[in-house]
Amino acid sequence: MDLETFAAVDAFVEEALVPHDVALQGALDAAEAAGLPGIQVSPPQGRLLQMLARLQGARMVLEFGTLGGYSTILLARALPEGGRLITLEANADYAEVARGNIERAELADVVELRVGPALEALPALADEGAGPFDLSFIDADKVNTPNYFAWALDHSRPGSLIVADNVVRGGSLAEADSADEAAQAQRRLHEMLAEEPRVTATTIQTVGSKGYDGFTLALVDAS
Ligand code: SAH
Ligand code: DHB
Ligand code: MG
Repeated sequence: MDLETFAAVDAFVEEALVPHDVALQGALDAAEAAGLPGIQVSPPQGRLLQMLARLQGARMVLEFGTLGGYSTILLARALPEGGRLITLEANADYAEVARGNIERAELADVVELRVGPALEALPALADEGAGPFDLSFIDADKVNTPNYFAWALDHSRPGSLIVADNVVRGGSLAEADSADEAAQAQRRLHEMLAEEPRVTATTIQTVGSKGYDGFTLALVDAS
């Protein structure tokens, strides 16, 4: 099995189950034209995010890491009338591309994009009394995933779902002596989850067009 096979299956699944969408394709094209890295969730993963938002009955979503707004648009579209999504992006150039994509997807009234390092945006969000968030999607700088998880948990309600992307990292999650700081951060996330009485969590390994990785799901039991 190799990346070519994983990518072919993702392409098959996309072709079979994920209808072509002008706004989403436009968002990907604009991101590529602007030179953004193509590291957004794959179409099948994006579909899963949308389904999780719907299963949650999510009205308030928090996203860490906007990039060109691909996952943002998917999540925002899963919200009911009156739903809101706040997305945090450190890179001002990426944020500008995302803003255009969100506007063209006619989601400017649903999505609030805040530019700057997510950790610096969180105190203001807390001061404003933002949340509780029904769904948080953690997909920014991977070394801070444990910090984002802690904040998201504190701004959740019983029943909220926290999703963290890119936790398996080619298998380095299982390497205690990994020299990769991002891998060590995912190990720390798992230590936090193990000790955290407020959540039930699991991690699912994935293969696909983005290689071998995985995501963590944490369901908030009490807060
Ligand atoms: N969620 C997007 C992909 C995000 S890629 C999608 O699936 O479509 C990760 C993003 O996190 C990048 O755009 C990167 O610029 C951003 N990022 C990196 N460090 C950050 C930080 N400290 N705060 C907020 N965003 C950050
Ligand atoms: C990277 C970030 C992601 O969110 C992802 O899904 C894959 C790769 C990255 O920063 O390289
Ligand atoms: Mg990711």
